[in-house]
This record gives sequence, C-alpha cells and structure tokens, in this order.
Amino acid sequence: MKYALIGCGRIAVNHVKACDNNGLEFVAACDTVPENIDILFGKQMPKDADKIARYTDYKVMLEEHPEIELAAIATPSGDHAEIAKYLINHGVNVIIEKPMSMNMKDADEIVRLAEEKGVVVSACHQNRFNIAVQQTKKALDEGRFGTLSHGSIHVRWNRNKGYYDQAPWRGTWADDGGCLMNQCIHGIDLLRWLMGGEVDTVYGVTRQQFHDYLEAEDVGMAVVTFKNGAVATIEGTTNVYPKNLEETLYLFGEKGTVKIGGTSTNNIDVWDFSDETEADQQNKGFKEQTSNVYGNGHTSLYADVIDAIKNHRQPYVDARAGRNGLEMVLAIYKSMKTGQPVKLPLEDFASTDMKGTF
Ligand SMILES: NC(=O)c1ccc[n+]([C@@H]2O[C@H](COP(=O)([O-])OP(=O)(O)OC[C@H]3O[C@@H](n4cnc5c(N)ncnc54)[C@H](O)[C@@H]3O)[C@@H](O)[C@H]2O)c1
Repeated sequence: MKYALIGCGRIAVNHVKACDNNGLEFVAACDTVPENIDILFGKQMPKDADKIARYTDYKVMLEEHPEIELAAIATPSGDHAEIAKYLINHGVNVIIEKPMSMNMKDADEIVRLAEEKGVVVSACHQNRFNIAVQQTKKALDEGRFGTLSHGSIHVRWNRNKGYYDQAPWRGTWADDGGCLMNQCIHGIDLLRWLMGGEVDTVYGVTRQQFHDYLEAEDVGMAVVTFKNGAVATIEGTTNVYPKNLEETLYLFGEKGTVKIGGTSTNNIDVWDFSDETEADQQNKGFKEQTSNVYGNGHTSLYADVIDAIKNHRQPYVDARAGRNGLEMVLAIYKSMKTGQPVKLPLEDFASTDMKGTF
C-alpha cells in the first residue's frame, strides 16, 4: 500500500516506524521545512529512503503521486483539518494526528466527508491500543465491572520552556491549545470511550500558572456527567516539577476496580474483580515497556487502518472518535469561558474562542 507522510517533526519518528513495521511502501514525505525530512531520517531511517520523493507542498505531492492510498498528517494541529479535508476530497485514506482539528465545525465536517467519500479516516489516539487499555475495554465489554460508579484521568506531566521554544505554534490557541488539547487529549479520549461515550455535561476550570509565555492553559480540571449515570473527573497539567509523573486512569464499578498507570496509561497498577479467575493474574502488575510517552500504539493503529482499508470497514479509532475527544476539551474550554457547565453535543466552539483568556 502506497503511503505518504505530511509533517516530519518530533512525532514523525513513530509514523516512520509504524510505516516500516507494517510493510507500507513509503512513496513521499512532505515538510514545509525540507531539512526536517533529513533530520527525521537521521533519527529513524525508513526502508528504501533514497526512493522516497520529497515535497514542501502536499498538494503538489498528491498531484505528482496520485497513487498514494494512505497519508499521515503530523503537522502542527492548526493545519490538520485543512490538509485532511483536501486529502479526503481526493479519495486518500488518512491518519490524522491528535487533535483531529481545532474546532467543532471542522471536526464534524471531517466525519461527514469521510462517510460521503467512503475513505478510511483515523484519529491518532494510539493509546487505545495499549495492552492495559485493551484488557480494560475487554473487561468492560464483558460486563465485569457491573454498573460503573465513576472514573478519573490524571495526566501529570512536565513541559518546560525548552519544549515550548522548539516551535512557535506550541501553546497558541490557533495551532495547539494548552495542556488539555495537546498532552491530555489521549487520556480524555480514553476516559470518555471506556465510560461509554455518552457524555451529558462537562464543567471545567483552567488556569495558566507557570507558562506565561504561552497563550493557553497549563492546568485544567473538569467534572463530567455521563448519560449512563456515571461521573468522572479530569485533571491535566504540564506543571509537574521536575518531570512527567504519571498518566493514570481509574475506573470504579460495582464489581470491579482498575487503575491503569505508568507515564502514559501503559501499566496495570490495580486489577480487582469479584469474578476473578486464574487468567486475571497476568493482568495484575502488568507493565508494557515503551521507549517514550507516545507508547507503542502507532504501529497497531496503522495495522488496523491498513486492514480497514483492505476490508472496507471503519477503523478502530475513527473520525468520530477524534471528534469526541476534541469535543471534551472544547467543552472544558467553553465552560471556563462561560463559568457554566456545558451540555453536549457541542455545536460550534473553536480553540480560538479562548483568545484573551489568560
Ligand atoms: N499521537 C501522539 O502521541 C502525539 C505526540 C506528539 C505530537 N502529536 C501531534 O503531532 C503533531 C505534530 O507534533 P510534533 O511534536 O511532531 O511537531 P513538530 O513541530 O516537531 O513537527 C511538525 C512538522 O510539520 C511541519 N509542517 C508545518 N506545516 C506544514 C505543512 N503545511 N505541510 C507539511 N509540513 C508542515 C513542520 O515544519 C515540522 O517539521 C501535532 O498535532 C501534535 O499534537 C501527537
């Protein structure tokens, strides 16, 4: 399957690995800064690198390589929607890095276009493929928790000035958002998805405590009510001294308690069920080794997308999943702005509506 990568910065390393691990034919790489392709290949050399065409404009790339079947978008977040819509309109299947877009209008449009054009669109929430997360989802689907009482996600990370200085788009309302939109959206996606997806209201408060050189928040708290009666809390920050502490998800049911821990929801710290069997011993204390906080999920997500394309089915993490994660973050933003709980669905709110908050 012929593949292209658009945006060759930090996360692109995981995309190159996922491309090679899945035997894709890497046809073209595109970055507005051509040297970034060299830097990327220096970090992670793809197979047959000399055969990969290089572009600074994705439209020219697609014009010269109309055979591209799958493209990954790993540009700054503010560009995702425009590039995705262009590719989908040209019949290309896409993997869109998170957040899928920066506003509800674009997210809804991407969901609609994906259906209309019949292409596979996947939002890159790769942590759904973490083994700890998969085991928890299986237990939920089997009804082992009983009725859910509540859950919570804690993303307690550190991002310092050196990180934000790497690129001018970081921490801006138009192109990135703050810690909730960038760093915490994976955990927020997991919380919503695992707890049944149907959110009623979101009440949130955000602050900018230690990063006054950014536009957006560096800490956010929220209370979420679900239509199934369960409730949840969200705590996300990049303010933890001196380094990433944890990304931890708790689920509490009538007959089960699970705590998924580690730096990015990759370990099982607590696994207790009333119907415990021998097989549960494997999950207790389980740890998945990862080389960084982005985990191993890109390769699994790519494998699923390739299979979805071949079998004309929806991917495991589809465009609607990307829309739903974004909706949670934007609902927290809107709640901060209005001081009121926000009822979902969120019709039309944009990250840029937060301009001037801090
Ligand atoms: N899934 C994850 O766990 C994960 C982790 C990190 C980042 N991300 C997401 O990936 C995206 C990129 O993040 P990053 O840290 O790699 O950023 P980065 O700044 O390191 O890389 C972005 C690259 O895109 C290039 N670029 C900018 N505009 C472009 C355009 N129009 N066409 C082609 N190339 C363009 C830049 O020159 C740069 O090389 C962001 O949306 C971020 O939220 C996801």
